[in-house]
Amino acid sequence: MTPDLMESLAELRHKHDQLAPTSNKSGDREASYGRVMRLGQPDFTHGVALYLDDITVSFDGFKALNSLSLAINVGELRCIIGPNGAGKTTMMDVITGKTRPDAGRASFGSTIDLLRLRENEIAQIGIGRKFQKPTVYEELSVFENLELALSADRRVRASLFHRLSGQQLDRIGEIITLIHLKDDAQRTAGLLSHGQKQWLEIGMLLMQDPKLLLLDEPVAGMTDEETERTAELFLSLEGKHSLVVVEHDMKFVDQLTEGRKTVTVLHEGSVLAEGKLSEVQANEKVVEVYLGR
Ligand SMILES: Nc1ncnc2c1ncn2[C@@H]1O[C@H](COP(=O)(O)OP(=O)(O)O)[C@@H](O)[C@H]1O
Ligand SMILES: [Mg+2]
Repeated sequence: MTPDLMESLAELRHKHDQLAPTSNKSGDREASYGRVMRLGQPDFTHGVALYLDDITVSFDGFKALNSLSLAINVGELRCIIGPNGAGKTTMMDVITGKTRPDAGRASFGSTIDLLRLRENEIAQIGIGRKFQKPTVYEELSVFENLELALSADRRVRASLFHRLSGQQLDRIGEIITLIHLKDDAQRTAGLLSHGQKQWLEIGMLLMQDPKLLLLDEPVAGMTDEETERTAELFLSLEGKHSLVVVEHDMKFVDQLTEGRKTVTVLHEGSVLAEGKLSEVQANEKVVEVYLGR
């Protein structure tokens, strides 16, 4: 642990001792959690983390998703590629409850019907999403950003002074190391490089220990070195979390799939091909639509 990090931990322990949480805040959080629990616990015993079945999303008659079916296994790292407009972001919008499909089914594990849950509830049951642009609290330190991420509840987020357990502090220490920012714990997030901000946001998602992580073009705008480190980070998360990574950078996809994992190619809102990266790259239909030849 670096001196910076130790200082941050000591400061937080002090805060923790000084301040008690306000009861109505944790009450709200529990009420909302209670609703999710009434809807059932996710069941992953069948090995499936996410299942999309025949999903269609129309925008003024245009089908952004067209009978899309997809299954992601527990602990799987799945790369999704496809030309612009293929429906990749819309697919993530459906999984996270931002967009409601016109038809189809979406389940988390074998029991949770995602189409019945609200966006915040989907986040609470263990689906984390990384948008294309980094969204960190620029004026706060790296450490404070991770601290805030401990609570998914925005009302609690509004206060820096909610109670942290020793276990939560250990978790911050663990994550900050994983995302290569332990030497920058006290640094204002706004001063980080673009790549570091992306890592910080991934770290913030990991604070919630999501079962499934959705990452939309996570290495866009990163340097080659940052991109490589990001691939290493994702590979280290594989197995503990399921990851769905949408990306254009084929070198990155190649590093993530290690020549053996399944890649899904989306085109016009449905799955055009699935297989190893070398296989889909050799697929004539894929060459035609994706590589534009
Ligand atoms: N809110 C929306 N209203 C109208 N059209 C949309 C909306 N969101 C996405 N689309 C359209 O749906 C298609 C798929 O978009 P998107 O999912 O963003 O593709 P990708 O992420 O693969 O580039 C595009 O043609 C896009 O213009
Ligand atoms: Mg997109």
